[in-house]
Amino acid sequence: MTLRMREMSAADIDAILAIEHASFVSPWSRGMFEREVEGENRIWLVAENPAGVLVGYGGVMIIDDEAHLMNLAVAEESRSGGTGRAILGELERLAATAGAQRITLEVRADNELALAFYSREGMNVIGRRPGYYEEGQDALIMLGELPGRQQVATSTGTELVLAIETSCDETAAAVMRGGIELLSSVIASQVDFHARFGGVVPEIASRKHTEAIVAVVSEALTQAQVGFRDLDALAVTRGPGLIGALVVGMAYAKGLSFATGLPLAGVNHLEGHIFANVLADPAIEPPLVALVVSGGHTSLVYIPRWGVYETLGETLDDAAGEAFDKVAKVLGLGYPGGPILSRLAEEGDPSAIAFPRAMMRSGDYRFSLSGLKTAVINHVRHEREAGRIVDLPDVAASFQAAVVDVQVAKTVQAACEYGVRTVCLAGGVAANPSLRQALAEALTTHGITLSVPPAGLCTDNAAMIAAAGTWRLRRGDLLELDAEAVADLRLG
Ligand code: KG4
Ligand code: ZN
Repeated sequence: MTLRMREMSAADIDAILAIEHASFVSPWSRGMFEREVEGENRIWLVAENPAGVLVGYGGVMIIDDEAHLMNLAVAEESRSGGTGRAILGELERLAATAGAQRITLEVRADNELALAFYSREGMNVIGRRPGYYEEGQDALIMLGELPGRQQVATSTGTELVLAIETSCDETAAAVMRGGIELLSSVIASQVDFHARFGGVVPEIASRKHTEAIVAVVSEALTQAQVGFRDLDALAVTRGPGLIGALVVGMAYAKGLSFATGLPLAGVNHLEGHIFANVLADPAIEPPLVALVVSGGHTSLVYIPRWGVYETLGETLDDAAGEAFDKVAKVLGLGYPGGPILSRLAEEGDPSAIAFPRAMMRSGDYRFSLSGLKTAVINHVRHEREAGRIVDLPDVAASFQAAVVDVQVAKTVQAACEYGVRTVCLAGGVAANPSLRQALAEALTTHGITLSVPPAGLCTDNAAMIAAAGTWRLRRGDLLELDAEAVADLRLG
């Protein structure tokens, strides 16, 4: 919906009071609004829908470098349309222009909807004022950083972002509007170049990224029917990943940012994988638990708010995808192993061979997969030495079941311990149908929902980097041009 934002005037107060009374337990009085409209150092805005009806309002008071949000409300029927976000974004933009660097606000401690809204907008609770409200209710104090002035056009949620991903063996670029609307997503896979080596060869990866990146970006712009001039910002994967691969995307993105003056956000690849869930289901909200399973990572992450990632446990040795790849290599099946083994597993018996489920009952959130890989190798060698034909589907299905059992058990445990209502599955291994099904079923018995991106958004792509990047850009979290790629960049 297109909103028109304008300065508040005294003539708006009747319409404002109707929304105010429907929104708050202790609504403001007419006199309070009248004083605010005339007050010094204030910015008050109203939002009108295309029919000219006032659907929301908000205001800040500016004290030095701080903007204090005095009030923000949206008519009930307009609440799901991003009106609140648009008003807040415009207030933030104007406040930043007026010199404010931070925004603060107080919110009733029991107002969960408002708390969730402001945390989604990048604000954090920094304190509590006991008995702040008339009824003795506590107020929580929230703080957010305001975007730097070079950030553009983020308030309306229509910013056009070009994202680039080169952390491993896919050169990818995507164009996205408003952090959600995907206009193009181009992925040039190098898989064929690595397949004959049974894994990614870092030197080949960076050379292939260099060869492909210009064409991939051009293709993403062409498919989106936009040019560099239409863009509002850039996003790039900064890490973790292969350093020689990451630097190609970083160097390209920094060069483009320098040449065009567009702001640039650096995205953590794992945060990108998690944001693939937001693309699939924009309504998901923290608190969340995410299981990130890819070729390089196996991590359980608790997300109390967007941008805050508490890693609960990781693999001590091989990542889940790496285990799939290594087992496929030993069986002579090719690379990448995940899709090949999961297809083979469909025809096998998952209980045929009792492979170990390491750390299944360790009580913590750490994983270990190298023992399982060795057990598969030993089994195959043993069978071959005994002159028996190895039943590949049974091996694949039994191996996969061992991986899935541990992932499911630990994820359910974490989701229950942290009391979340939604779990996100992310990373290349999230494309595995057996894992998706088993995890969804196990969580359902605890009343927890599983969010999974479509398989095409699970493996590496730039759409997820665009989504996470837009979120970072909105917080004004920009990369300087001297920022480096970081091979072991931590989440959070
Ligand atoms: O996220 P991703 O594309 O790249 C990294 O960030 O590592 O994940 C790639 C990994 C590979 O190890 C691949 O074998 C695995 O994801 N994978 C799968 C499946 N599809 C991809 N693993 C199991 N089952 C699948 N269907
Ligand atoms: Zn990945």
